Amino acid sequence: MLKLHLADFSLDDFMAHYWQQKPVVIRQGFQHFSDLISPEELAGLACEEEVESRLVYKEAGQWQARVGPFESYGHLGKEGWTLIVQAVNHWSLEVAELVKPFSFIPKWRLDDVMVSYAVPGGGVGPHIDLYDVFICQGSGRRRWRVGDQGNHRQFAAHAALLHTEPFEAIIDVELLPGDILYIPPGFPHDGVTLETSMSFSVGFRAKSACDMLSGLADYVIDKELGKTLLSDPQRPIHQHQGQINARDFALIKAQLQAVLDDDTLMADFAGSFLSKTKCALDLQPLEEPLDIVDLANTLLQQPLIRIGGLRCFYVDATVAQGVCYVEGERFEFGAACREAVVALCDQESLSDAVLETGLQDPEFVRQLTEWVNAGFWFFRD
Ligand code: SIN
Ligand code: CO
Repeated sequence: MLKLHLADFSLDDFMAHYWQQKPVVIRQGFQHFSDLISPEELAGLACEEEVESRLVYKEAGQWQARVGPFESYGHLGKEGWTLIVQAVNHWSLEVAELVKPFSFIPKWRLDDVMVSYAVPGGGVGPHIDLYDVFICQGSGRRRWRVGDQGNHRQFAAHAALLHTEPFEAIIDVELLPGDILYIPPGFPHDGVTLETSMSFSVGFRAKSACDMLSGLADYVIDKELGKTLLSDPQRPIHQHQGQINARDFALIKAQLQAVLDDDTLMADFAGSFLSKTKCALDLQPLEEPLDIVDLANTLLQQPLIRIGGLRCFYVDATVAQGVCYVEGERFEFGAACREAVVALCDQESLSDAVLETGLQDPEFVRQLTEWVNAGFWFFRD
């Protein structure tokens, strides 16, 4: 099991002084680290339609980017290119394991684990990201330069590559296998591979108010909520017909605020919205569906494993009723199932013992069987 090793500061120090504040190199954050996927497997994934991938290289001094799926890599030379594959944690359980050492950040903040394979001179160029990233160096060596936050001009070096102008480095290091570079959003950075190498980037992204409000609007429309019209009995005589006066403005804001103040509505929205994945999942449906008796019997012998990338959460405001949110949907199992619901969301591997409260509830067992048949969880042989 991968364990994060912090030699120079504690996790508390990291959260207090670095997280979302400044970049830092964690030397040998993973001791004896070896690649979690082979270059061949990664290249194979980038040939799949449902996997998001990019090849970035320079041609006659000009940056180029091609989007997968790819059919072959034979035309690529020995230098100056990189293959980047998004959400590899959805397709490889070994890569998904890399999320666990970062469990001091909740899963709802996780974006994905991106893996890159690069040959000497390869990189994506100087750029700024909107997410917090832990770049974990696999095999090979890579030089990373990171600049300070500031007003860095950004420009399209290619239609698919947003670059930033050259910057002064506040960090300039060579990462070796097992080293980790943490970069918060907004810090320009540039990684150039010194020898054929693999990087594993665990990215955490927060939504903007715009994302959340647009999601909330879709949610209330879909669930037919928030339909009560603004009401204004006892309205005082208005003086200026064209004016939305302070009293009316407060009324309008209060109408919207009432939606935001409804904790159950907001918990259901947040849980559903944040548990929806943006990338395809590698579902493991059963050829021969299980029935509920098979499920309970098999669980006595084998743990149930959550597929990589599946998002399931509970929210403090609703968990007491045994509510959880899985892949964008809300499920309510009742107060007696609370512990099973918490285990389902917190643990990647589920034993009969941790699901005990749920296994006594027919609806929980029925739903779990449906999830297993649909391929959201699978039995490890
Ligand atoms: C890479 O791994 O090549 C790019 C990572 C990044 O800078 O975001
Ligand atoms: Co980046």
